[in-house]
Amino acid sequence: MDGDSSFIRSDTTQAIAQLRARYPWPPERPEFSEDWFGWLADTTAEMLTGQCPPDARLIVECGTWKGLSAKALLLHAPAAHLICIDTWLGSPEHQPASGNQLWADQLPDLIEHCRANLWPWRDRVTLLRANSPDGLKELAELGLSPDFFYIDSEHSFDHVTKELNLITLHWPGAIIVGDDYNNAAVKLAADTHATITGRRMVSNPSAFCFPGSPEETP
Ligand SMILES: C[S@@+](CC[C@H](N)C(=O)[O-])C[C@H]1O[C@@H](n2cnc3c(N)ncnc32)[C@H](O)[C@@H]1O
Repeated sequence: MDGDSSFIRSDTTQAIAQLRARYPWPPERPEFSEDWFGWLADTTAEMLTGQCPPDARLIVECGTWKGLSAKALLLHAPAAHLICIDTWLGSPEHQPASGNQLWADQLPDLIEHCRANLWPWRDRVTLLRANSPDGLKELAELGLSPDFFYIDSEHSFDHVTKELNLITLHWPGAIIVGDDYNNAAVKLAADTHATITGRRMVSNPSAFCFPGSPEETP
């Protein structure tokens, strides 16, 4: 079916519909006021808008929290459907034991805040509640072909490596931007992925990017 774009489009639409049936939005907007507390450094926002094609059709974000970066992506790529993969349970640094009470206090209602914030875009957003490697495998099993990935979930070497390996394995031509290049574990994971795969990587003080390579697109 190569070259039959109408087939590809309807196939993608069906797969997204299947996914949305598994992860439905509630019938009503949760009763929380807008609260955009989150993490999106200026240099990361620049990397996102500089590398994500404005005409992207399918974007995947690993690590959404309350939706700050998700909103930036939705505004930047107005035709895109956005799949947000998150446990909405917080990362290790958000847990009460980490000692940051401001972050820990936000965990109990995290997904409800996210749903309330992203409610205006709910027709274009699917909130896939899962450990991100499992969520990525679910998208691969559905045969989805995202154009662009943003990774900002758990910042350990092993976790970032797992996400990068899965994305490069299933979608070798897709563009990947990652946050927290200023975190030593994330930087090591991104640098190691570049060395092992031979993929070109660009970076700025807070973000890294593996630009897409059209010839690798399946
Ligand atoms: C730094 S926050 C994301 C910030 C967000 N991008 C923003 O714009 O504010 C990290 C998110 O990753 C999620 N997370 C942590 N570990 C995860 C995992 N193993 N799988 C999926 N999500 C995870 C957390 O629940 C949290 O919402």
